[in-house]
Amino acid sequence: MVIAQWNDSLATGVDKVDTQHKEIIRMINESHEALSQGKGRVHVEKAIGFLSSYVVDHFKGEEELMAKHDYPARADHVRQHEAFLKDFTRLVSEYNTGGSSSALAINFQQSVVKWLVNHIMKVDKDMAEFLIAESGNKVA
Ligand SMILES: [Fe+2]
Repeated sequence: MVIAQWNDSLATGVDKVDTQHKEIIRMINESHEALSQGKGRVHVEKAIGFLSSYVVDHFKGEEELMAKHDYPARADHVRQHEAFLKDFTRLVSEYNTGGSSSALAINFQQSVVKWLVNHIMKVDKDMAEFLIAESGNKVA
């Protein structure tokens, strides 16, 4: 089951950011599938491991862009990233102690997907608007 899907309303207009968001959505679906189908631990850990390291790198990339362009709302944006990583780490440790469960799969869906969509729609779009105004959509 696909739990998150890319659509144009998620586009920020910054190519690099949008490409990474698409990849994150793909990895979320893969991780959720592994969790909800009760796949083996190795499979789930691999999917979640890829997702979490990709997300960490992606956040770093956004944070570097914001620093480089002196984005005024940077501190709030970084705080959101940190809060997400804390929640995500908690979910991973719940999995590590309790294994796959439907409750965990639902929790994953609600917290990860909802957070991501809300974050992209508001916080990332605000950031992108600023960056594009500064240097066009080939922001680097
Ligand atoms: Fe962000």
